[in-house]
Amino acid sequence: MMGDLLASRVGLDVVETEKGVGAEVRGIDLRTLDDRQFAGLHQAWLDNLVLLVRDQSLSDADLIAFSRRFGDLDLAPIQETGRRFVEGLPELYVVSNVVEGGLPIGSLGNGEAVWHTDMSYIEQPPQASALYALEVPPTGGNTSFVSMYAVYDALPDALKARIAGLRVKHDGTYNSGGFVRQGVVPSDDPREAPGALHPLVYTHPETGRPALYLGRRRNAYVEGLELAESEALLDELWAQVEASPATWTNVWRPGDLVLWDNRCTMHRRDPFDAGERRVMHRTQIKGESRPA
Ligand SMILES: [Fe+2]
Repeated sequence: MMGDLLASRVGLDVVETEKGVGAEVRGIDLRTLDDRQFAGLHQAWLDNLVLLVRDQSLSDADLIAFSRRFGDLDLAPIQETGRRFVEGLPELYVVSNVVEGGLPIGSLGNGEAVWHTDMSYIEQPPQASALYALEVPPTGGNTSFVSMYAVYDALPDALKARIAGLRVKHDGTYNSGGFVRQGVVPSDDPREAPGALHPLVYTHPETGRPALYLGRRRNAYVEGLELAESEALLDELWAQVEASPATWTNVWRPGDLVLWDNRCTMHRRDPFDAGERRVMHRTQIKGESRPA
């Protein structure tokens, strides 16, 4: 692909997973990328949707500085307990099950995080998320990614025709760990729940490729349909996600940085043992446009 030619021209070693999603970039230090290397990395990311860069030594400031090369950062959602994560660094979101002094240091606990797109319940969701592993459990807690380009491409033509022009509500009640977001009164009626309406089929603003845009299943609602009809259509679409071969799983090691394109992928996390520690720091790069 073009991107790999560009990547190789600037000396990046890009190893694709051959799953239609995911590539590892080897032999680089994200603290010291020059502009040409960054351009190659950016293209490799657009081509492969998710990049893994191992063996990094990033401080919080390094993670924020690297993330800012992609664009302005979103402020992290407030933690389930109402706390900000890291004093003085409102861009940082901590994904962790660790409890210190009786208070969790992060969000999402140790359970499964179901398939989702980050923060798609807002009008202009982040274009990208960067997740950096500080501590990982010996087993479990792996993160899987699915290409929503591939899921869309694989839909039967009749289903593609049926969803063209439809919008879906992306629920803002629950986070991916199933916890109620700070400041939200929970409702389990998808028509009443807070959230943003986005097109079910989204044209990626940089690649021009169509992607199915589902966000998350719980409390989702297809605008204008009877509730039962909306549920049936969403179940049919989600079955295509579950069946997609275009998935790739990262088995985390400390020092892994994973950067995903939040516009054309979804991700999920396996549960892990509550007695083990898992600490990840995340940043998000603002979206430059509303999904369209
Ligand atoms: Fe997420």
